[in-house]
Amino acid sequence: MTDAPQTLRDRLEGAGLQAIELLTVALGLRLGLYVALRDEPATALTLARRAGIGERYAREWLEQQAVAGFLTHADGLFGLPDEHARALLDAEDPTFVGGTPRTSAATAAMLDVVVEAYRSGAGVSFGAYGPEFRAGLGSNNRREYANHLGTWMAAIPDLRSPARIADVGCGEGWSSLALAAAFATAAVDGIDLDESSVFAARRHAAERGLADRVSFHLRDAADPGLAGRYDLVCAFETIHDMGDPIGALRAMRGLRAADGTVLVVDERCGDRFDPAAADERERYMYGYSVLHCLPVSVGDAPTPEQSAATGTCMRASVFTDYALAAGFESVDVLDIEHEQWRFYCLT
Ligand SMILES: C[S@@+](CC[C@H](N)C(=O)[O-])C[C@H]1O[C@@H](n2cnc3c(N)ncnc32)[C@H](O)[C@@H]1O
Repeated sequence: MTDAPQTLRDRLEGAGLQAIELLTVALGLRLGLYVALRDEPATALTLARRAGIGERYAREWLEQQAVAGFLTHADGLFGLPDEHARALLDAEDPTFVGGTPRTSAATAAMLDVVVEAYRSGAGVSFGAYGPEFRAGLGSNNRREYANHLGTWMAAIPDLRSPARIADVGCGEGWSSLALAAAFATAAVDGIDLDESSVFAARRHAAERGLADRVSFHLRDAADPGLAGRYDLVCAFETIHDMGDPIGALRAMRGLRAADGTVLVVDERCGDRFDPAAADERERYMYGYSVLHCLPVSVGDAPTPEQSAATGTCMRASVFTDYALAAGFESVDVLDIEHEQWRFYCLT
């Protein structure tokens, strides 16, 4: 017997449940409710006092979280299982997913702005998505860099301990800091066009005592005036967001020292648009493309018409065309398993 096909109503009602529960997690993160529950279970009154929120609100949220299966409930006390605490609060834990509710809520809050952008054809700046989007995205990526960046570096052919590294489109700087950890004597320069990201990145470097080796610069990655000679020039999950990806790749080529390596990490999507073959990852990318990455890349150019307007699903063939147009001779995809990203080595 085959399963009856899921109707659109079933599908959207299921999605609605997931979406509303995701927003309640974002609420709990924003208010510090999971942090307040981490060490000890609580009643509504205790949570309200610990987190500084109204008791009636605390009770409703606790009951909802227990019903959703995010919290335990016994004898009037609500508790946060260790596994959930790590996934929501420990940004370098391999199971961390605490950035997802934050970026989702911040994206939903941008709907009016995105509606207007679709009508006018104008773009939206990355910064307009706000601190929750920026920090949420950065924290999920931080998990990847903290846990896997060393393995990725080992897979790059002929990469000998680089003395100078550039990290283009570095965001809050988590990849730059992971690069500094992987190469203990390297000097790392992060470049990003979003002022708040650069400020946050500088703060993270200072908090980790790495400000002497890791610097962050407010610059356009496509600026032909970018100067320097780097043994490793990287761009992590940023080229598809850029209005001028060819200009940025050309600048990266110019920053590379004679024997230097250029690494671009970007979305691993299918080879072509094929709705029947698209997996959940590609559906997720398209969702973010519609609501964030495309408007941002349109906004990252002097006029909307001048933007490459790539979208999140930057196919390998599209990226290769960009790299060749920027003056690279070849693009190799490294043999690195990653569910979300593809690793391009450019020569
Ligand atoms: C998806 S975020 C990724 C950030 C970071 N690489 C990470 O992995 O967390 C894309 C970043 O690209 C930056 N960006 C977009 N266009 C840029 C440009 N023209 N020059 C420099 N940075 C740019 C944005 O400000 C944003 O920080």
